[in-house]
Amino acid sequence: MENNNLFSIAGKVAVITGAGGVLGGSIARSFIAQGAKVAALDIRKENLDALMKELSGKGGEIIGIAGNVLDIDSLKKVADEILAKWGQIDILLNIAGGNMPGATLTESQTIFDMKIEDWDKVTNLNLNGTVFPSLVFGEVMARQKSGSIVNVSSMAAYSAITRVAGYSVAKTGVSNFTQWMAMEMAMKFGDKVRVNAIAPGFFIGDQNRAVLINPDGSLTERSKKVLAKTPMGRFGDITELNGAVQFLCSEAASFITGVVLPVDGGFSSFSGV
Ligand SMILES: NC(=O)c1ccc[n+]([C@@H]2O[C@H](COP(=O)([O-])OP(=O)(O)OC[C@H]3O[C@@H](n4cnc5c(N)ncnc54)[C@H](O)[C@@H]3O)[C@@H](O)[C@H]2O)c1
Repeated sequence: MENNNLFSIAGKVAVITGAGGVLGGSIARSFIAQGAKVAALDIRKENLDALMKELSGKGGEIIGIAGNVLDIDSLKKVADEILAKWGQIDILLNIAGGNMPGATLTESQTIFDMKIEDWDKVTNLNLNGTVFPSLVFGEVMARQKSGSIVNVSSMAAYSAITRVAGYSVAKTGVSNFTQWMAMEMAMKFGDKVRVNAIAPGFFIGDQNRAVLINPDGSLTERSKKVLAKTPMGRFGDITELNGAVQFLCSEAASFITGVVLPVDGGFSSFSGV
């Protein structure tokens, strides 16, 4: 990809929320290697410190900012800080999010056992945690008349996945909001402000390891069902999301807005039969 300018993100200023996590960290590494300027934002400062140490001097520039995607006032301060340092914001990657143990029903529970408090937490983080940064950093892009936002939807937004009701509803909201914001930005602020999403398939991460892999390392029944419905017959490697995100942020995607791009080994296009 290095020699093809169409896909270049070199010199672009990118805000990555949830950069202290597995996916955000992986994309931050990839963006730095491609010469982007990365503002890594996470509520867990200690994770950012490790990332900063690893990535400083590795290509582009990186700053770590402790911040909460659910706090609009603090996000505005973050935007001011980035603008004071780099003068523009070209890319927003809304990566912060994920399922929460309390919001996952056990095998023996039904929806009526679900705690409303956990429903509120998981829907708030996964929906508003994408909407609020899009409003704050998107407003900067609207003023600039250029910018690219990439959200993270999920396979749970295509058809029902057992046990994760709140997460699924919120991610469906993310897909719909992606379309809505794409329309709004293009119609009111021009064709250079784009909003898209990726929909990752199944990747083994901290949030889902326990439901996919048994303590002895073997696959759970749930895992076997996932792989049976994945034509490629394997889980994804988290780095396999980097190219899709970079593509959506680059000039190569200049006429693409409002799409949700599955990166799923075929899971969403296969009936299972
Ligand atoms: N790992 C997968 O298989 C998978 C699959 C589909 C979608 N996703 C999605 O990808 C995204 C990232 O997942 P991950 O596996 O990297 O999760 P992760 O838990 O490793 O990372 C999430 C990061 O977000 C941060 N965060 C949480 N609340 C925050 C807040 N209020 N403000 C700022 N930061 C906050 C956390 O501190 C953490 O560092 C999520 O949206 C998740 O739903 C992951």
